[in-house]
Amino acid sequence: MILLADDEPAFQRLTASWLRSQGHEVMTVGDGDAARAAFAKAKPEVVLLDLAMPPHHDPQAGIALIPAFAPAPVVVMTGHADQALAMQAIEAGAWDFLAKPVDPDLLKVVVARAVERARLAQELAALRARDEASEDMGLIGQSPPMVALRALIRRVAPTNLPVMVLGPSGTGKELVARAIHAASARAKGPLVPVHCGAVPADLLESELFGHLKGSFTGAHADRAGLVEVAHGGTLFLDEIGEMPPAMQVKLLRFLADGTYQPVGAREMRTSDVRIVAATHRDLAAAVTDGSFREDLYYRLKGVVLSTPKLDDRGADKALLAQIFLRRATPQASFSADALGWIAQRAWPGNVRELRAAVECAAALAQGQVGVQDLVFATGSGESVQTAHQPQTLEEEVAELERRRIVEALARTGHNHTHTARELGLSRVGLLKKMDRMGLR
Ligand SMILES: Nc1ncnc2c1ncn2[C@@H]1O[C@H](COP(=O)(O)OP(=O)(O)OP(=O)(O)O)[C@@H](O)[C@H]1O
Ligand SMILES: [Mg+2]
Repeated sequence: MILLADDEPAFQRLTASWLRSQGHEVMTVGDGDAARAAFAKAKPEVVLLDLAMPPHHDPQAGIALIPAFAPAPVVVMTGHADQALAMQAIEAGAWDFLAKPVDPDLLKVVVARAVERARLAQELAALRARDEASEDMGLIGQSPPMVALRALIRRVAPTNLPVMVLGPSGTGKELVARAIHAASARAKGPLVPVHCGAVPADLLESELFGHLKGSFTGAHADRAGLVEVAHGGTLFLDEIGEMPPAMQVKLLRFLADGTYQPVGAREMRTSDVRIVAATHRDLAAAVTDGSFREDLYYRLKGVVLSTPKLDDRGADKALLAQIFLRRATPQASFSADALGWIAQRAWPGNVRELRAAVECAAALAQGQVGVQDLVFATGSGESVQTAHQPQTLEEEVAELERRRIVEALARTGHNHTHTARELGLSRVGLLKKMDRMGLR
């Protein structure tokens, strides 16, 4: 579509009909304000602009208008005597100019070139957008398992199938859920995470399905559940393995027919959500030992995606480390042996541990990030750094305890809940120990 802005009715009519005869769609306006409004609304590919138009009939006002049409190419039309003005217009960003009276053949050529240019610019923008979307979807890694994982995500995302993401802690399960949402038709809708393990069992139902005012002590007002909030989008059920049995039944009913009942409500409601669930636990084993419902398990595991442990990703270790470092401190770099150290080390805490280590090392390092900084950041060198050898049994136990905690903290990226779980401590118990050891 071409926007033709000119205040002379006869010229407007003739030019428009000539352009239409060339197969262009044309929209006409008679002044600058109308041109601006029409541009915003119709997004024409090319603008043909008369410089002197009402209300001021001042060519400078016309020139000032040119940038408003970016990125569409603007062809200005000026009287013969106005060559200097035409040059000024080009300087202001106009694509070309035509002298009035306009030669129809020249008009044809100039407009065709401008349209061509607009098309190319659009194509380029579309390509760039596609490139960005298809690139890594936020999941960095060139190792075969990561390439395969991204390919699967691309295939699964556009469907409405429930997805189960399985993998050890810190391997990017949440990132996978986000990538699925972003690559799905629901991308413009909400992505609502629910941390099934972090919400106390008796609150989970109202958290998920909402409640009515007065339905229990403390329910002072109606509250929408996350299931309702996620309508039109994706509900991410994180740590699904921790979901209490009573809730498993209710969730199953919602998954079966999309209906649910807010706490205290009599009628059923519906919500349209896509389910992505994740857990680091062995759900199949949980089904066998009876702690997870088999019917729910099969309902959730429409498609299973597995996030590989970091030690199975080869050169991705060094790649991830470099990207994390650049994000943390753009001007920093690793020493040569630091990357080697990262590549050969085992990372039981997976990507989360690597990321925490790199960020910590970057903060500690003076200049280049070296092996020493990483050793310190990961707690790998604890034994080396102990100033004196423990003498008594008590000292030895304390030393061992400290080392275990430091290592677990590094592995979980200083996630206290995960660290406590891993060490079989309560969160409060862990924090107390950390305080005592000066680790906070
Ligand atoms: N492939 C990857 N590219 C970039 N960052 C990643 C990648 N995988 C994981 N991460 C980063 O590692 C950290 C842990 O990822 P995430 O929270 O998704 O793990 P998880 O599998 O959900 O772990 P958990 O089971 O403990 O909840 C995050 O900071 C995340 O951004
Ligand atoms: Mg997670």
